[in-house]
Amino acid sequence: MKTKELISTAKAMVANHKGILAMDESNPTCNKRFAKLGIPQTPELRRDYREMIVSTAGLNESISGAILFDETIHQQLKDESSFIDVLINNGIIPGIKVDGGTVALAGHPEEKITEGMDNLRNRLNEYAKMGLRFTKWRAVIIIGNDIPSQTCIEANAHTLARYAALCQEAGIVPIVEPEVLMDGDHTMERCFEVTEQVLHTVFNQLYKQGVVLEGMILKPNMIVPGLACKKQDSIDEVADATVKCLLRAVPAAVPGIAFLSGGQSPELASARLNAMNVRFKNKLPWELSFSFGRAIQQPALDIWNGNEKNVTEAQKALYHRAVCNLAARQGEYNSEMEKE
Ligand code: 13P
Repeated sequence: MKTKELISTAKAMVANHKGILAMDESNPTCNKRFAKLGIPQTPELRRDYREMIVSTAGLNESISGAILFDETIHQQLKDESSFIDVLINNGIIPGIKVDGGTVALAGHPEEKITEGMDNLRNRLNEYAKMGLRFTKWRAVIIIGNDIPSQTCIEANAHTLARYAALCQEAGIVPIVEPEVLMDGDHTMERCFEVTEQVLHTVFNQLYKQGVVLEGMILKPNMIVPGLACKKQDSIDEVADATVKCLLRAVPAAVPGIAFLSGGQSPELASARLNAMNVRFKNKLPWELSFSFGRAIQQPALDIWNGNEKNVTEAQKALYHRAVCNLAARQGEYNSEMEKE
């Protein structure tokens, strides 16, 4: 195994206060976001949108890596360069989502399991040849009345570890993403309890399956109350609960934790990441970073709206969010930045 290379890639993904941009929406997810804005859901417009993102000047000042989707790596920019090359030339490490999305878990119709293990070894070898240096696999855990079940947590943890081990065998850094969803009216305490259980189970499986912790990145949810919960805890309470949970469950050997945004507003995601770094930076064994999708892209997508003439303004919005999160990683973000 190329352990040295894995470790150096994983470190580079969370170095210099930069974060990872998730632009790996599957076609159905990307189409859903386009549909909300009345943007036609075509391969060409998905390509145009992704070109707008990767050609944003200065993105590399705050973004270390970008997660692409399979469709995108087979498309080209208008000047016929490949998306992978453009990122590499800008000093951004290219990665790719390799999971196949979620389906109902057999016998547990309210819960999800992630598909995509078939032929994964061959796909990873192909991706490595194309220059992709990291991958992402997302598992989804839903909080409800009697869920998550132990079965669902274990099945997803086992799959995440199988995926991670295969990636490392191919010399690719796995981003391990067990996402506890924000949907529901559960409390922050319930999110804490479930996330802690999930993370313990995931790291147990990673250990059993021989995954090198120094050569992976964890992409978890923050510890937050459900979107419909009456009590919405403060930014500092979320920061404290999140760090407390991670300290209990994430081994110090992991180089970086890069949060997903999960449906938080862009400003709140930045503020919460910032609060964690204000309160705990330099006291933690791992880098606390971001791998946001919506919380970086949404304002830019709203402005772009499928129209070429909005590209420059959309890029400004994208650049701005990336810079806000660069600041949040250093505990230097504040709401004044939103007025700039
Ligand atoms: P969000 O930040 O929009 O949750 O996306 C992150 C991601 O990659 C989900 O898999």
